Amino acid sequence: MTGTLIRRLTPEDAALHRALMLEAYADCPEAFTSSLAEREGLPLSWWAARMPDVPDPPELVCGAFAGPALLGAAGLSFEQRERTRHKATLFGLYVRAPARGQGLGRRLVERLLHEARSLGRIELVQLTVSATNPDALALYGRCGFVPFGTEPMAVRLGDGYIDKVHLWRRVG
Ligand SMILES: CC(C)(COP(=O)(O)OP(=O)(O)OC[C@H]1O[C@@H](n2cnc3c(N)ncnc32)[C@H](O)[C@@H]1OP(=O)(O)O)[C@@H](O)C(=O)NCCC(=O)NCCS
Repeated sequence: MTGTLIRRLTPEDAALHRALMLEAYADCPEAFTSSLAEREGLPLSWWAARMPDVPDPPELVCGAFAGPALLGAAGLSFEQRERTRHKATLFGLYVRAPARGQGLGRRLVERLLHEARSLGRIELVQLTVSATNPDALALYGRCGFVPFGTEPMAVRLGDGYIDKVHLWRRVG
């Protein structure tokens, strides 16, 4: 999408990110492990802590902006333990419905891969996606992710269950 800026979010963007993700949990409950009920009660400081303005953060979030409007976002969580510090997990990819199909999802994933690479120590990024989400599976496939297994009954939603496909790709 022309004129859309992808950038790292800072704690000042926490309220925008919170609003975006509460919309995501409400509109696409089958796509996320987090639920609206679980997340809407959390304080703004919890959201701000996902995007700390420090050199080697435990988590970061990137957003797609059209002017001041946040159209989409996705984040990375970095493993901290000595023997798993080479791994990162991609979380919370969401693009608002009117902005879909214009490459923002792909740009967000590519920006996160760039952020992971530039840390120097990250060798792979992993994520999970609902087996019932062909759009997201196709997007991650185009971004170089490959499946390494499916977790049966990973999420319980209402009276049913959703399997989660685990994907990974190397970076660097
Ligand atoms: C999955 C999701 C993030 C994809 O976001 P998106 O911005 O629509 O993704 P992209 O635009 O990068 O790619 C989607 C499609 O648009 C197409 N596209 C990309 N650039 C385009 C452009 N400039 N013009 C037209 N179409 C374009 C892509 O080819 C792709 O189509 P295809 O699947 O037929 O190949 C979005 O649908 C979403 O938020 N879904 C709900 C939440 C969700 O499922 N999140 C994932 C949780 S794991």
